[in-house]
Amino acid sequence: MTPELFEKVDHYISGLFAVEDEALTNTISSLNEEGIPQISVSANQGKFLQVLVTLCNAKRILELGTLGGYSTIWMARALPQDGKLLTVELEPRHAAVAKKNLDFAGVGNKVQIVTGKATEILEELIAGKEDPFDLIFIDADKPPYAEYFELALQLSRKGTLIICDNVIREGKVLDETCKDESSQGAHRFNKMLSRNDKVTAIILPTVGVKEFDGIAISVVK
Ligand code: SAH
Ligand code: DHB
Ligand code: MG
Repeated sequence: MTPELFEKVDHYISGLFAVEDEALTNTISSLNEEGIPQISVSANQGKFLQVLVTLCNAKRILELGTLGGYSTIWMARALPQDGKLLTVELEPRHAAVAKKNLDFAGVGNKVQIVTGKATEILEELIAGKEDPFDLIFIDADKPPYAEYFELALQLSRKGTLIICDNVIREGKVLDETCKDESSQGAHRFNKMLSRNDKVTAIILPTVGVKEFDGIAISVVK
């Protein structure tokens, strides 16, 4: 088995289940045009998020790390008419590009982009006694994933789904001496998650058009 085969199979699946419309393809092109890295989830991962949004009947979603709004569009489209998605982005430039993409995708009315550091925004939401979210997607910077998760728990209720992207990093999490800060953050996060008795959790390894990685799925008990 080769990366080429994984890519072909990923395209086979997305051709069946995750066909992108103009809003999604434009969002991916907008990243190139604006010099923003191509680190959105894949089409199949976007559809997977959509399936999870539907599975948990989500009306309130929180996302950390908006980038150009690609994952946001997939999730927001699975929300009901009165659903809301709050997405947190550090870079004002990313937030501005995302705003345009979300409006073009027709979900601008359901999505609020908040610009700022994820930790600070989470602390503000907790202090402001924000209602719990039904689904939380953590996909911002990787080193503080464990801290993000602890804060996310405080914005959860029994049954909340907490999804964390990029927790395997091409298998670099296996190497405890790895200098890469993102891999170290993921390694620390995975260990914490495996011992956290507030959730039941698992990691799904992901192969396909993106680098070999993994998504952690947790349900609050
Ligand atoms: N969820 C997006 C991809 C997010 S990439 C998608 O799949 O389409 C990670 C994003 O997190 C980047 O836009 C980056 O600017 C943002 N980010 C990095 N550090 C952050 C922080 N401390 N707080 C909030 N956002 C952060
Ligand atoms: C990176 C971040 C992501 O969210 C992702 O899905 C892939 C890569 C990164 O920062 O390298
Ligand atoms: Mg990611």
